[in-house]
Amino acid sequence: MSGGDKLDFEIHQNPQPVSAAERAAMLANPGFGRIFTDHMVTIRYADGKGWYDARVEARAPIPMDPATAVLHYAQEIFEGLKAYHAADGGVTMFRPDANARRFNTSAERMSMAQMPEQVFLDSLHRIIDVDREWIPTAAEGSLYLRPFMFATEVFLGVRPALEYLYVLIASPVGSYFSGGVQPVTLWVSQEYTRAAPGGTGAAKCGGNYAASLAAQAEAIEHGCDQVVFLDAVHRKYVDELGGMNVFFVYDDGTLVTPPLTGSILPGITRDSVITLARAAGRTVHEQPVSIDDWRADAASGRLREVFACGTAAVITPIGVVRTPDGEIVAGDGSGGEVTMGLRQQLVDIQRGRADDPYGWVHRVL
Ligand code: PLP
Ligand code: COI
Repeated sequence: MSGGDKLDFEIHQNPQPVSAAERAAMLANPGFGRIFTDHMVTIRYADGKGWYDARVEARAPIPMDPATAVLHYAQEIFEGLKAYHAADGGVTMFRPDANARRFNTSAERMSMAQMPEQVFLDSLHRIIDVDREWIPTAAEGSLYLRPFMFATEVFLGVRPALEYLYVLIASPVGSYFSGGVQPVTLWVSQEYTRAAPGGTGAAKCGGNYAASLAAQAEAIEHGCDQVVFLDAVHRKYVDELGGMNVFFVYDDGTLVTPPLTGSILPGITRDSVITLARAAGRTVHEQPVSIDDWRADAASGRLREVFACGTAAVITPIGVVRTPDGEIVAGDGSGGEVTMGLRQQLVDIQRGRADDPYGWVHRVL
């Protein structure tokens, strides 16, 4: 079958999978994004033909002609989500339908082919099925799934490519930050911005991350874990971190997070946090927060906690924030009650230890 909402996948088992003993050693301390499973999914797309040649096969290099369009004009998008061992012994994913939708929103912004949501979801099921032994059982462990798509047409003209390759790889992971659930320190980028109005900030395209690396390097030079970007117009309002959204918790229990203006990524964790906080009776405002307000409210004590959230980072407290004008610390700079409470609630739903009233948990096995 080709081009429709459902594809038949050819399954080619890896003839040389990693041995059980070697896998166990690799899973003992996986880190983030360093180790990979035995297989990958690939699906091809051609204009006029649609999606075709869906296969699960041994994870392997992808040979490319030097004139392949992505190498020149960066038509590339990706997603990130996790599969977990659930409390009942099954395997689940968290809100994969939301990732499928965002993948298509990103594709639209980058003038790439749309992928039927069902094909995206089927591909996730396929890799989990074949690589299920790679899902870590450790408390903080999960199988990070990385679907991505790029322009494969061999052509140097600047226009949307007519051919694409969708690939799905999987990486067993522990905590994103090597310190585990410890507060992270942030550097407020002065020189660089991440995305301008009308730009690609809301799309999950590789180029956004390439553009963030100089700022991230600056953060590391200043002894910080992550960079936080300010808006590109006023250089004043907090946008997001290099790979996470941000929330502010005030002394009256209110949460504030920057609005989805098109220059930040609409995080699925962000959306989940808003839903959980509102269900718990909290007020959540999606409104701009300036760096001056962050400083003043932290100093006055009105701002109690700040946290970052995303698939990789889950919910991570923000400790010290460094700026050229000195440091900002909200509360005592450790994970506060609201941050850690929301984290626990989210993780319990993700791992099947708590009720899932929103239908977020998607059973795979
Ligand atoms: N912002 C950026 C730039 C990201 O890369 C991510 C991670 O995917 C997020 C926010 C959080 O998004 P999500 O919660 O969907 O993982
Ligand atoms: C994620 O949380 O999935 C991300 O994409 C963040 C980073 C690893 C790029």
